[in-house]
Formats: sequence, C-alpha cells, structure tokens
Amino acid sequence: MRKREGKAMVDKNLAVIVLAAGEGTRMRSSRPKVLHPIAGLSMLGHVLATARSLEPSVVLTVVRHARDAVAEEISRLLPETVVVDQDEIPGTGRAVEVAIAALPKDYSGDVIVISGDVPMLDAETLTELLRSHRERGSAATVLSAVIGDANGYGRIVRGSDGSFDRIVEQKDAAGPELEITEINSGSYVFRVSALRAELQKIGTKNAQGEKYLTDVIGLLKGDNEPVEAIPVRESWLVAGVNDRAQLAEVGARMNARIIRRHQLAGVTIQDPATTWIDADVVIAEDVEILPGTQLKGATKIDRGAVIGPDTTLVDCEIGEGATVKRTDGTLAVIGKGASVGPWAYLRPNTVLGDEGKIGTFVETKNSTIGYGSKVPHLSYIGDTEVGVQSNIGAGTITANYDGVKKHRTKVGSHVRSGSHNVFAAPVTIGDGAYTGAGTVVRKDVPPGALAISVAPQRNMVGWVAENRPGTAAAEAAAEAEKTDQA
Ligand code: UD1
Ligand code: MG
Repeated sequence: MRKREGKAMVDKNLAVIVLAAGEGTRMRSSRPKVLHPIAGLSMLGHVLATARSLEPSVVLTVVRHARDAVAEEISRLLPETVVVDQDEIPGTGRAVEVAIAALPKDYSGDVIVISGDVPMLDAETLTELLRSHRERGSAATVLSAVIGDANGYGRIVRGSDGSFDRIVEQKDAAGPELEITEINSGSYVFRVSALRAELQKIGTKNAQGEKYLTDVIGLLKGDNEPVEAIPVRESWLVAGVNDRAQLAEVGARMNARIIRRHQLAGVTIQDPATTWIDADVVIAEDVEILPGTQLKGATKIDRGAVIGPDTTLVDCEIGEGATVKRTDGTLAVIGKGASVGPWAYLRPNTVLGDEGKIGTFVETKNSTIGYGSKVPHLSYIGDTEVGVQSNIGAGTITANYDGVKKHRTKVGSHVRSGSHNVFAAPVTIGDGAYTGAGTVVRKDVPPGALAISVAPQRNMVGWVAENRPGTAAAEAAAEAEKTDQA
C-alpha cells in the first residue's frame, strides 16, 4: 500500500466504517472473499487505502467470517484500524450498529459506510458524496447507481416529484419496484446522531431475517429528516465482487485505471489489453512497456527503461535506460543501461550492475554481476560474484550445489572465460584471468593466468573405416579422402 505523503490532515468529524463480516459464499473459496487480490492487493486492502486517504479520525472494520485472517490483513495494512466483531445478529444494520458502539461516546460527526468487497470506489467519489451531504445538511446520503441489470440490488424508491423516499431490498420488492434501475450501491454518509437513533428501531422482520441498514433511510424520512440519493459518475466504480467472474471483471477495470494513471504520468504502454500492472508499482517518465508485460508487487522502473514484450517482473528494480526483453524476474535489481534477455530467468537476489548484460537463455540466482560485465548466452549463474567488465563465455554453468550444500563462485574483474565452462564452486577466478573453451574450473585461477583443464585432443586417423565399416559416415570419409587426394 502506498505510504501516506506529507502531514495527515485529520477530519475530526469523519469516521469510516468498512463492512467486511459477510461470508462471500459465491466465491466458492477457502480464502475469505475480501482477501482475494486485485492488482496485487486484497480487495479489503484497496478499500482500506481509500478509507485512509479520506483522512478520517478513525477507520472501523466490522469482521466475523474468517475473523482472524481478515483481522491479520487489517493489522498488516492499516494497523490503526479499529477491528469490530459482529455478533450473531445478521445484517448490514447490525454490522453498523456494533461499529457505532465502538466510536467514542461523544463523537458527533459524520460516518461513511463502505463495503470491503467494492474495491474500485475511490476517495474522489466519496469526498464528493461527503461534500454534498454536508452542504445540504442531510441526515443520510446514499450513493446510488443506474445500471442495466439491477437484479440482486436494493432499489432506490423515489416519490412522484423525484425526491428520495426509501430503499427496498430485492427480496422484499414487489411489482413496479422491481422495474427500478437505480440501485443502492451500499455506500453511504450518515450524521452519526441520526444513525444512532434509527438503528435502535430497526428489526429483522423482512425476507432475509436480517437487520437492514437500508431501513434507516425510511425511518429518517418518516421523521422528516433530510435524506438524499446521489447517482455515482460511472456505475463500475461501485461494482461489488461476489464471484470469480466479477473478480476478473473488476480486476480488468482496476488494471485499466492503473494503466491510464501511468500513461498520463508519461509512461508509454503500447497494449493496455495485455499489460497488467499492480497497484503499488512505481514507473518513471519515458518508460516504455511493450505488449504482454506484467509488473507486480513492489516493482520499480526508472526513466527511459524499455520493458517487454512478454516480461513478468515481481518486486524488481530496473535502472534508467535498461532494457528487459522476454524475461521472468523476481527480486532482481538491474542497473542503469543494462540489458536483459531475450529469454532470461532472474531469480531472487540477482543484481546486475550498470551497463551489464544477462543475455539469452540465462538463469541467474543470488548473484552479483558487476559494472559492464556480461553473461550473454546459455548460462546458469548461481551464488556468484562477478567483478567489473568481465565476460562469461557462452554455455557457462556454475556448479554451486554439491548435493548437500551451496557454494559460492568468485569471478574477478576483466576476466575472459571460455565457452562451455563449469565453475565447480567454491572456486575463485582472479582478475584478468582467462579460461579455455570447455574448462572445468575446480581449482582457483590466479590473476592473469590461463586455465585449461581439458585433455589434449588426439585424432585416431582411420578409426571410422576400421570400426564402422559400411556406414554412411565411413563412405563420406572415404569420399572426402578421394577429393583431398585429387
Ligand atoms: C446490500 C444492501 C443493498 C445494496 C447492496 C449493494 C442492505 C440490507 N442491502 O445488500 O441495498 O444494493 O448491498 O451491494 O444493506 N455485511 C456485514 N455483516 C452482515 C452482513 C453484511 O458486515 O451481517 C457486509 C458484507 O461483508 C458486505 C456488505 O456488508 O461487505 C454488504 O453485505 P451483502 O450481504 O453483500 O448485502 P446485500 O444483500 O448485497
Ligand atoms: Mg452484496
């Protein structure tokens, strides 16, 4: 979650209640619904971030189902949240009632109520709702939405003059009420005194046997208190997630919003449809992101870097002007102007220096490769330290594992190692050393030495004719001999 910037300006007359006690059975998941991630952050995490950015005096979250897991996520993301346990009395009205009871007795401001499963709702929309609520001096302001398919939602019932009258739940609605397309989004602002007074009066005599928060509106209206329902700018802002199909839909919306934010901040994103960026990824101006790229977790990309196509980076840091092509990386740090891929696999604790290279079909892990050093082709480099300006020959493998323990390889600066080497760790190759092609380096190589481990080549002339007579190889050899003699 992004850190709060600058000094907090707390609104002493604002409390936020997040409802998160429901079960979410339609997810069909062992994971509590509000903990399902969208853009690298749980749905509840998005909602808590929004709640926090409103700078209220307090955030209260109501829990019950999977209580401990949800409470743990809350304390991880926003530890100052007051966690309130709902009792066995069901319903949104009851949830708000127990939350109100946890507020200071003398609290007399406004209360925003939002749901833990509505992750797209942003602070801007809620700030606007609160402003309107306060300007009109309303007792309650409901955020509504006009949607194509109102099925399942509470409906906003208005009088003939268009004024807001009450909310009727789908299961309690009849006849023309079911035709209403303006729905209750489940987000509200209440004056706390009005809410306290009316919540005491509501019961569970309805189709679901629950205490409905929505009944408060009708009661307030009956008491001649001013209530309003204000439609949201765009209905997807209040889209709730109840099943995995909605999880994907809302996830795509969230992604589109994140991508747009980066685009407006100077990032070129060629193909938003195949680019996925987590909420907390940081990208500088003039970065270019090519199709099929996923940037996850705490990934950070510096100015002018080109990422993709077909690249997944998790918790990586990419330096200014670096290029990372067709790569899978986790917890890697790539230096300024460095180049990675195509087809590189960067495992945790890979550190590539400025101007360095990790090339094609190269796997790295727990290794530091210094300034300007290159591992260009077909290598595994693990538990290794490479100095500056060294070149590791094609097909070099660090044998870091003896079957029981891992060992380190040290390669100095300005080293030129031959193709198809094995560095059998623990081993050190000194500064400015060379190794021959096919060398198995089992002993340390002193600085400036040439290491060769392969046996001298012997050519057994006529071996094929003698041992493989009649084969195509023997015939080809005989043919070549004839041509040579001619
Ligand atoms: C609620 C509204 C409905 C609205 C819809 C929008 C009521 C009575 N109805 O209906 O008008 O259109 O949301 O999505 O409020 N929760 C608790 N404790 C409970 C029950 C629910 O904390 O005992 C939480 C849930 O975790 C969820 C939120 O409250 O975050 C809404 O609950 P849900 O059961 O989805 O309410 P709906 O029946 O959809
Ligand atoms: Mg719901």
